[in-house]
Amino acid sequence: MARTKVIDALQSTDYGKDITIKGWVRTHRSSKAVDFIAVNDGSTIKNIQIVVDNGVVEEETLKQVTTGSCICVEGTLVESPAQGQASEVHCKSLVVYGGCGADYPMQKKGQSFEYMRQYAHLRLRTNTFGAVMRIRHNMAMAIHTYFHEHGYFYFHTPLITASDCEGAGQMFQVTTKNLYNLKKDKEGKIDYSDDFFGKQTSLTVSGQLEGELGATALGAIYTFGPTFRAENSNTPRHLAEFWMIEPEVAFMDLPELMDLEEDFIKYCVKWALDNCKDDLEFLNKMIDKGLIERLQGILANDFVRLPYTEGIKILQEAIAKGKKFEFPCEWGDDLASEHERYLVEEYFKKPVIMTNYPKAIKAFYMKIDEQESGYNGKSGQTVQGTDVLFPQIGEIIGGSVREESYDLLMNEIEERNIPMKDMAWYLDTRKYGSCPHAGFGLGFERLILFVTGMQNIRDVIPFPRTPNNAEF
Ligand code: 4AD
Ligand code: MG
Repeated sequence: MARTKVIDALQSTDYGKDITIKGWVRTHRSSKAVDFIAVNDGSTIKNIQIVVDNGVVEEETLKQVTTGSCICVEGTLVESPAQGQASEVHCKSLVVYGGCGADYPMQKKGQSFEYMRQYAHLRLRTNTFGAVMRIRHNMAMAIHTYFHEHGYFYFHTPLITASDCEGAGQMFQVTTKNLYNLKKDKEGKIDYSDDFFGKQTSLTVSGQLEGELGATALGAIYTFGPTFRAENSNTPRHLAEFWMIEPEVAFMDLPELMDLEEDFIKYCVKWALDNCKDDLEFLNKMIDKGLIERLQGILANDFVRLPYTEGIKILQEAIAKGKKFEFPCEWGDDLASEHERYLVEEYFKKPVIMTNYPKAIKAFYMKIDEQESGYNGKSGQTVQGTDVLFPQIGEIIGGSVREESYDLLMNEIEERNIPMKDMAWYLDTRKYGSCPHAGFGLGFERLILFVTGMQNIRDVIPFPRTPNNAEF
């Protein structure tokens, strides 16, 4: 008999019908007359209860029905007399597909997340990781649906690239060269001419530059793919391999960019509240009691739009009143996460879109503000960059209006000594029919952190890659 998924069986009122349930045993309780087996098949956080009357299944078989084992049950769907569950299955026959011994690492409840990370191949079967993974899927669907409905084209940018979009030098090299026998030129530099691509290549840190090529042809595109950064930061917010969503839009200015960022995140959060109710209720109960309220708060509030210079003023006023920060925050400094969190969690108590950052702390492609920046009365010192700062998370989005002027962009490239050899294709967007455009990058796992209330980014991706860790 074709199997019925637990999620469908629990919703069905087809009482009296025979169905087949297949899944993993969560608990097994025996009493004199009857056995109760809770089965989960991953389709929902909820289990279905299997009721086995005495004598229906052989003792030897029932003994193998342990926590973690995989079983197939045929039986009748009946209305449950128990509180809080609509239906259960009255067992007619039971087969054990795979037994599970007492050494099963996920057997005990309440294991620490550090412990479970060592068993990332098995932790997926727990309630928490099941909930997180179903929400992760739902967020991916929300993202594709949002952009599709708003007329954006899903655009695939390369993972192997020769350019460093963020210019931060945090790239993983891609090579087929024999590392034991490297050919070097007269100056001692590695000769890449005989490498697979005939030049030095790396894994991408961002699809933006190629995304701009798409946007300046198709009007509006988005990417959604893996991104790699060899930054040696062992924090609960950083992964070496993460997924990024990068919309890029022709003819978009700064206010429109901020509208897009806010509308898009709110859409995703609303999608979670509308479509992931059971999983969110579970996480709200078990992981973070303020989760659902915080998600609703995102929908209820307008995001604050705050120029960097204003932000620095607020922080310095706080310091004058006695607030202590570990890191300095003078105009020109990159804000530390303690500063971001103060603004978002204490001062405004809602998400903040910070804009108009000092040029020196942002990437080369950001459009220079012609208007007065508000700092020392000089213009041209700030750029039209935006960071969306979220409670608990800090930076969730980084984006900007792009510099569309060939000359101004060239100035930046030269000032920053960015190797031009491989950038001609990018400059062609400014040479031929250049247009104003803007875009942003959302860190997918940071969104999942926020929506699930989980504390560590390693626990919202199935198989995390971080310094010294590439298991599974
Ligand atoms: O701010 P970032 O570095 O911006 C860019 O890469 C731009 N090229 C994006 C664009 O405009 N198209 O990264 C964007 C976002 C961050 O705000 C953060 O959410 C996430 O990517 N992110 C990371 N997430 C997990 N682990 C890391 N190591 C991350 N680095 C950035
Ligand atoms: Mg950033």
